[in-house]
Amino acid sequence: MHRVDVLIIGAGAAGMLAAAEAGKRGRRVLLVDHAKKAGDKIRISGGGRCNFTNVNTSFKQFLSENPRFAISPLKRFSAQDFIGRVRQRQIAFHEKTLGQLFCDESAQLIIDMLLDDLRDAGVELRLKTNVHRVQKTGDRFVVELDDEQVEADKLVVATGGKSIPKMGATGFGYDVAQQFGLRVVETRPALVPLTFDQSTLAPIKELAGVAIDPARVSHGKTRFDEALLFTHRGLSGPAILQISSFWREGDQIGVNMLPGMDLFAQLRAARQENGKRAIQTVLSQHLPKRVVDFVLETQQLGGNLADISDKKLKSLATAIEQWMIKPTGSEGYRTAEVTLGGVATDELDNRTMEAKKVPGLYFIGEVVDMTGWLGGYNFQWAWSSAWVAGQAV
Ligand code: FDA
Repeated sequence: MHRVDVLIIGAGAAGMLAAAEAGKRGRRVLLVDHAKKAGDKIRISGGGRCNFTNVNTSFKQFLSENPRFAISPLKRFSAQDFIGRVRQRQIAFHEKTLGQLFCDESAQLIIDMLLDDLRDAGVELRLKTNVHRVQKTGDRFVVELDDEQVEADKLVVATGGKSIPKMGATGFGYDVAQQFGLRVVETRPALVPLTFDQSTLAPIKELAGVAIDPARVSHGKTRFDEALLFTHRGLSGPAILQISSFWREGDQIGVNMLPGMDLFAQLRAARQENGKRAIQTVLSQHLPKRVVDFVLETQQLGGNLADISDKKLKSLATAIEQWMIKPTGSEGYRTAEVTLGGVATDELDNRTMEAKKVPGLYFIGEVVDMTGWLGGYNFQWAWSSAWVAGQAV
């Protein structure tokens, strides 16, 4: 039997950072993953440039039964702490928008940094390794891998969520939690494109490929001013991904294609200034032409401003500023960036990420019921929760 101090399952963002931290503290650490490579989601993240954190990270950008659970981990290993490591490694990065930090070159540089940390900390990394069974006997964990059994004092589950099964995502972490009697908050795909029925989709299909940046997309009181993208399957882009985490079946979402503008007032002023201008020309100053054509067609409008009544201008402004649509679903785990829900925070101690009922068992990263908005928050949660566990195991 192979004996280690700490066995970590899942060599993604959280698993790698936690393993390196524990290794640095002199623990004998084995890190296993069934995938061929470590940190595969980091590689594809942020369009290949990894939005590795957000300078504005706080618990307020997280969805969870108890977002405040994140306060202490996010404070103890903050966005600035991770940025410090990126700087020290001389990885060039830039702020894209809204505090989001991306690598200038490639996400692979973040993976390489973490792999080097693992090596320097003496962590044993085993890839292409399946975990068949987890048991606890006495105060030790016995874990059955493909070719051997491992005995560990501490077991850290860092297997992420269910998003993108093609990349090796599984519900393993939730199963382990349930096996040990821990509550798991119902999971659902989040940060995911939304889909529509044929009658809604047919008219907007011709807009596929068009972006509105920014659009204000809202659900109840929650709203995001970010880019919206029309696709062949429905709506996507950052604004839609953000709202998808809040949307529930049966709900409508609102789209304001011209946030921060009083369109009705603007159109009236334009009419007064020069009524001979075509409505299409005026609107095209603010919106992509294909969107303008689509809206004018649905409103059965055209011609010069002078010929359009206040009532019609008002109705046009409403159609653009308060477009209400009802998604029928989402693209699901196949394309979702993250998974909402997970191991309930009240089962865990946020000073260590250890299960309160099961000494020695830890959960970190996305498998926990702590889901960030789009914008680098999810990686920061992975780093912060992993660091905390890394100091404790
Ligand atoms: P992660 O999923 O990274 O790692 C889990 C590991 O466990 C994987 O290596 C997996 O193979 C392994 N595993 C799973 N089941 C197993 C089993 N049964 N046995 C053994 N191993 C198992 N976030 C962000 O902040 N900025 C960004 O730019 C992006 N971009 C982005 C793009 C895309 C396309 C996706 C899908 C996601 C993002 N994210 C993101 C989200 C981010 O990738 C995610 O929140 C973190 O990777 C979560 O880190 P974890 O380590 O918790 O899980």
